[in-house]
Amino acid sequence: MASIFKLLSLITLFLALIFQANGECSLSDIKIMHYTTNDYAHGMPVWKLNITNNCVCTQSQVKLNCTGFQTYLEDDPAILNAHENECLVKKGEPIHSYESLIFRYAWEPKFQFHPISSQIQCS
Ligand SMILES: *[C@@H]1O[C@H](CO)[C@@H](O)[C@H](O)[C@H]1NC(C)=O
Ligand SMILES: *[C@@H]1O[C@H](CO)[C@@H](O)[C@H](O)[C@H]1NC(C)=O
Repeated sequence: MASIFKLLSLITLFLALIFQANGECSLSDIKIMHYTTNDYAHGMPVWKLNITNNCVCTQSQVKLNCTGFQTYLEDDPAILNAHENECLVKKGEPIHSYESLIFRYAWEPKFQFHPISSQIQCS
């Protein structure tokens, strides 16, 4: 009998952890890091962007504000697809926990990308 209670309390703890994890994630867990590179394209400096889902849960349909974004490098739509004023990350596919995506663009000055929306899926 005692073992059943032990099991139940373990399950409760487990569920509590899941709900806690769920509440811990938000759009602000999409971290965007900018790095300079030594490369130039058409006289414009090339920047490296590291987009990380810094969260235990998967996030999909991640969109960044791309109002005014321009680049001299050929876009890699598999990573960042600019459409009107929004950039869809990884074609909207799930970005898993702590997964990083690297994107390069060439422009001056560097562009400030801000996440505007995502769908958070905790399993
Ligand atoms: C991208 O950022 C993440 C989190 O800071 C880091 O773990 C990862 O190594 C970075 N990737 C590259 C290629 O810089
Ligand atoms: C996107 O950025 C532009 C320019 O900074 C700003 O005017 C606009 O309100 C932003 N849109 C969203 C949805 O944050």
